[in-house]
Amino acid sequence: MALLPIVTYNDSVLREKTEKIDENSESLQTLIDDMFETMYNSSGVGLAAPQIGESIQLFVVDADAIPDEIDEPNEGPLVFINPVIIETSGEEVRMEEGCLSIPDVRDDVLRPLNVRIEFFDRDLKKQEREFTGWMSRVIQHEFDHLQGVLFLDYLSAFRRRLHRSALKKIDKGLLETEYPLAPKKQGNVT
Ligand code: NI
Repeated sequence: MALLPIVTYNDSVLREKTEKIDENSESLQTLIDDMFETMYNSSGVGLAAPQIGESIQLFVVDADAIPDEIDEPNEGPLVFINPVIIETSGEEVRMEEGCLSIPDVRDDVLRPLNVRIEFFDRDLKKQEREFTGWMSRVIQHEFDHLQGVLFLDYLSAFRRRLHRSALKKIDKGLLETEYPLAPKKQGNVT
């Protein structure tokens, strides 16, 4: 297993359209293990493949480490391959989000309470599940990564401006984190 450096918000790979995964392989399984290790090392609850520089439809989630959500079922580590959101439902809920690719920036995002999602698990078995609450939140955030969407995109221009200096710092590679970040590449998008 290996720790993978995490790419930060201004890297173009976070904005690309991701490719479908069409077969299981040893390298896919290793990548999944490495993504879990990388996520746990950075105390994250979800990690999408573009965040480690792979433009493919894969994300991992382990969102049980939130003590005030113990009323929700304990799912443990989950792997989502080629996910498709079938529907969202329930009220729009405001909840604070952060992102390992946008360290030190947190803000409230409105999202629907429930999500029904079709995906392939790590054995490439097809699944269809409905999630609610915190799990649903994390899954919607990670799913967005596969569409090139970041939680910042939901913020008003005013809220984004409040984060401008923090974002600049990330962009210049000046931010210190407790987990490894990928070196900045040319060809940034904003
Ligand atoms: Ni994120």
